[in-house]
Amino acid sequence: MKPRANNHICIRRASAVNAEAFLELFEAVTSATDFLGFEPAERSTTVKAQAEIFERQNVSKDIHLIMLADGKSVGFVSILRQIRRKSCHIGTLVIGIHPQYQGARLGSQLCEAVINLARKEGLIKLELTVVIANASAVRLYLSKGFRVEGLRRASMNCGGRFLDEYHMGLLL
Ligand SMILES: CC(C)(COP(=O)(O)OP(=O)(O)OC[C@H]1O[C@@H](n2cnc3c(N)ncnc32)[C@H](O)[C@@H]1OP(=O)(O)O)[C@@H](O)C(=O)NCCC(=O)NCCS
Repeated sequence: MKPRANNHICIRRASAVNAEAFLELFEAVTSATDFLGFEPAERSTTVKAQAEIFERQNVSKDIHLIMLADGKSVGFVSILRQIRRKSCHIGTLVIGIHPQYQGARLGSQLCEAVINLARKEGLIKLELTVVIANASAVRLYLSKGFRVEGLRRASMNCGGRFLDEYHMGLLL
């Protein structure tokens, strides 16, 4: 089911009410790609624990956004702040779009929204790692201004293939 032009798309801060749908979405994204850091069913976070992660955003200063298409959770993006004083101006970005909704510029919209919010919240830099073979993700990040800052060789075990990743950064 591809998103249609008249789908109502909404991006909002994730809260406790989104926890269950987020975990289902995370599992759907993970099950359809080799390129995320988790294997299917590897993440054992409970709905309650996820709700607490979302509710603690004002304390942790992390950012968790959820994207809804006609009320259905179809995308997530998180920025996890580093915790040390000398590096808490940096956040690590993780993003996923439901497999049935990929390739329709939703990732692009969601990425833009989180970059704007990160800037507003005073972050100075975003970082991420991405498997070089993950063409849509690499294109997405380059189009938003991320630059390749380094190469991490054989850093992701994708079904027995040890793939290289880029380390990428965006100065906000
Ligand atoms: C990576 C991901 C977030 C991108 O979101 P998306 O909604 O599918 O992508 P978009 O439609 O916004 O397109 C983003 C860019 O990728 C390009 N693209 C989309 N699908 C592509 C494909 N299959 N191959 C190559 N490029 C592709 C688009 O043309 C666009 O580039 P452009 O702006 O230069 O035209 C999404 O595909 C996803 O969740 N993948 C699985 C999880 C994942 O890999 N997360 C990132 C881990 S680092």
